[in-house]
Amino acid sequence: MPKIKVALIGVGNCASALIQGLQYYGKPEKQVGLHGLRNPSLAGLTPNDIEIVAAFDVDGRKVGKDLADAIFAAPNNAPKVAEVPQLGVTVQKGPLLDGIGDSVKTVVTISQAEASNVASVLEQSKTEIVLNLLPSGAAKASGFYAQQALAAGCAFINATPNLIASSPEWAELFQDAGLPLVGDDLVDQVGSTALHKTLLQLLSKNGVKIAETYQLDVGGGTESLDTMDRTRDAKRVIKTEAVASSLPYPTEVVAGSTDYVDFLQNKRDSYFWISGTYFCDAPMRIDLKFSTVDAPNAGSVLFDVIRAVKLALNQKQKGTIEPVCAYGFKHPPKSLKLETAEAAFKKFLEENA
Ligand SMILES: NC(=O)c1ccc[n+]([C@@H]2O[C@H](COP(=O)([O-])OP(=O)(O)OC[C@H]3O[C@@H](n4cnc5c(N)ncnc54)[C@H](O)[C@@H]3O)[C@@H](O)[C@H]2O)c1
Repeated sequence: MPKIKVALIGVGNCASALIQGLQYYGKPEKQVGLHGLRNPSLAGLTPNDIEIVAAFDVDGRKVGKDLADAIFAAPNNAPKVAEVPQLGVTVQKGPLLDGIGDSVKTVVTISQAEASNVASVLEQSKTEIVLNLLPSGAAKASGFYAQQALAAGCAFINATPNLIASSPEWAELFQDAGLPLVGDDLVDQVGSTALHKTLLQLLSKNGVKIAETYQLDVGGGTESLDTMDRTRDAKRVIKTEAVASSLPYPTEVVAGSTDYVDFLQNKRDSYFWISGTYFCDAPMRIDLKFSTVDAPNAGSVLFDVIRAVKLALNQKQKGTIEPVCAYGFKHPPKSLKLETAEAAFKKFLEENA
């Protein structure tokens, strides 16, 4: 069976978790009882069917290196969980554009190499799917790589919060080109947004009237640093809207990233506060801390959306693939409730297997 050929845009912490995950789950002893994955097999496709064939970055400690070495170069700090053999994929220099924000300039060393011709690298490597893992503040650069995917005839997955799949203009461009597009802003496997929505739904289903709720988090990855000066407000809007939509009535909701704490490394601490009233106005409070490692939280969902986009390609589906967007992303073109999104994704798999 031919592998699903994927190009990575940005060799940061998420890319590291994805590539290590491919090694981890590719070992024969991991083929049985694939714990840690939501869908070990998805419509017959396993993580073993995914192959990374090209990668782009701008950091001098990553450009020109084999992907196996680049994923462990600073400032990446995703934990090492797998030995990765040389992959035979050299990280190419991409155009910088707005890739690196002011805060992150202090930890990134910009490569002086000349930028490669992205579309031609995608064509030569026979890339089918371009996976955008740029920093969340890289709006222009995200648009540039989406354009290159179109030029090279590739599907596009936008894991960043930049609005591409949920922009009607981009959706039309991919529709006209006959290519699938999914995004925006990847959902985490054990994410604070999903946990927050689930808690609120459970409480409101039981008749609790939520008066106010927030969820704020601190992290130590480069992405948390980038968020500080470029995307804190945009992320707050996306998360707040997603959480507010889980309640059947309007209430005070704040959800978003708060700060960067370097010694946390790739860890993320999320704080939840929920207050409300139940029978005869009796008060209730939830005050909770939830700790995760950031990059591995993207791995299982990335495995799922890459395989789902391959199914869409096989079936010659084009434009935004809504069931995949609603299942795998926080800001899809059309938001659905968690259970509805899961049912739509399951139906998509059954229809396109
Ligand atoms: N659990 C998760 O980690 C998670 C969940 C949801 C969404 N996301 C999104 O995924 C994206 C990637 O997250 P991350 O933690 O890997 O970020 P990161 O900062 O670790 O990695 C980004 C990489 O992009 C590179 N880059 C910057 N400008 C570039 C350019 N012009 N061309 C090519 N490469 C460039 C950087 O050098 C860096 O290696 C972010 O937008 C984040 O919001 C991550």
